[in-house]
Formats: sequence, C-alpha cells, structure tokens
Amino acid sequence: MKVKRVEAMMGRPEGLKLIDENGKRLDGRKKYELRRIDMEVGVLKNADGSAYVEWGKNKILAAVYGPREIHPKHLQRPDMAVLRVRYNMAPFSVEERKKPGPDRRSVEISKVIRGALEPALLLEMFPRTVIDVFIEVLQADAGTRVAGITAASLALADAGVPMRDLVAACAAGKIDGEIVLDLNKDEDNYGEADVPVAIMPLKNDITLLQMDGYLTRDELLEAVKLAIKGAKAVYQKQREALKEKYLQIAQEVAGNE
Ligand code: CDP
Repeated sequence: MKVKRVEAMMGRPEGLKLIDENGKRLDGRKKYELRRIDMEVGVLKNADGSAYVEWGKNKILAAVYGPREIHPKHLQRPDMAVLRVRYNMAPFSVEERKKPGPDRRSVEISKVIRGALEPALLLEMFPRTVIDVFIEVLQADAGTRVAGITAASLALADAGVPMRDLVAACAAGKIDGEIVLDLNKDEDNYGEADVPVAIMPLKNDITLLQMDGYLTRDELLEAVKLAIKGAKAVYQKQREALKEKYLQIAQEVAGNE
C-alpha cells in the first residue's frame, strides 16, 4: 500500500540503509544507474498502436486508438483532436489489492500524463476527433508514471500519430541524503523525495516536472538534471524499440515479395 511520504519515512524499518558504505543501493545499483528497461512496440493486435514496457519490476502496457470519431459529440473541438488519457492500475499490480476503477491518484496521474504527451502531438491535424491513450499498470514498483509516459509515447508513434518528438521520462530523487536516479518502491517509500520528469529530447523541452517530498533548491536542480540524463537514455531505448518494429515489417514485406 502506498502511504504518505512522512508516514512512510516514520515507518522505516530500524537500521534500514538505502545506500551502503560502498555506495550501492538495496538492489545493487549505483547512484546514477537506471533499472533494467525493456520495451516492445506493436504488441496488441486490436489497438491502432501499442507498447509494452518492463522497467525494473514495473510492467506497463499502453494502447492507443485514433484519431477517431469522438463520443459524446459535445466534447469535440473544431480546431484540434482531443487527447484522452486513462492511467489504470490492475487490482493485482500492488502488494495490497487495489480496488478496481479510478481513484484520486489515478485521475491525477492521467491528467499529468496527458499534459506530458500533448505538446508532442500535432493535434491540430485532426479536428473534431479523439485520440485515446490507455495505460494499464500490470505490476507497480514506483516510477509508473514515467514508465507509463514512455510506453504511451511509443504506442502513439506506433499508431502513426504525427509527433514533434517522442516523449521520454525518468525520475530522480533523494535517499539517505543523496540524489539518485530512478527510485524503486522501497527507495520511494523510505526516501526523502521523488522528482519525475518528462522531456521532448530534440529541443530539450520539459513536459512534466513534479516533486514529492523535500529538497533544497540546489538538490532539486541536481535531481532535475539527473532525471533529464536518465530520460535521454530512455529515449535511445525508445528509438531502438521503434526501429526493431520497422525492421520486422521490412523483413516481412521482403519475405512476401
Ligand atoms: O508510480 P509512481 O512513482 O509514478 O507514483 P507514486 O504515486 O509515487 O507511487 C509509487 C508507488 O507506490 C507505485 O509505483 C506503486 O508501486 C506503489 N503504490 C501502491 O503500492 N499502492 C497504491 N495504491 C498506489 C501506489
């Protein structure tokens, strides 16, 4: 169960060290090391675009439909497509069964993910339509919003939605007084702060910046810089995953000729 940061820090098991004397974290990573990330594009046959991302113990599926006709009709915009995002956690995705359906957290995360993706999309090309993005968290271990943004952006590209750039995301934070990259669940629970960031790397635009916890101004700057570095590494992986899919298509086409 996700508890408020202050409560979690107070409930920290005695003697628990998030970084040991050799600078290693609980899962063996160094301060600036990402968790293992695997991505696959085009994993669902019935969606217009899709992607699956495993990021540490996070398992996240994104599906995109559209641009398509919008219902109810009164939501349509005469000048651009509407972008709808639903972030959803499966009941079995967390330790304590999560009640199905939206809650305050998932509504907020859906909203910030929508804001993170929107600047990348050429929505003005598709007036009076909707683009639906579904993000399904199958397993959660902290950092699901950044992994969700990363998956959704791949699914949008897979759907062929015209984009200015991919959106890549990553978090940095503070644990045991140190700024580190990509917090896992224990680090998020018992650490001091978490700073998720999303970027459009081509122009270095930031499309999401949040902070949970306490940081000084300098620490915040350091965390943002580190998260941007992480997001750039994620961006490279996104490009590779997309290339992989197009290589497969090219091979299939060549095989059919
Ligand atoms: O996942 P993210 O870091 O973007 O968002 P968060 O609200 O900071 O949640 C951190 C983590 O808490 C999630 O990734 C889940 O592992 C966990 N969590 C949970 O165990 N139960 C919930 N109802 C919600 C979150």
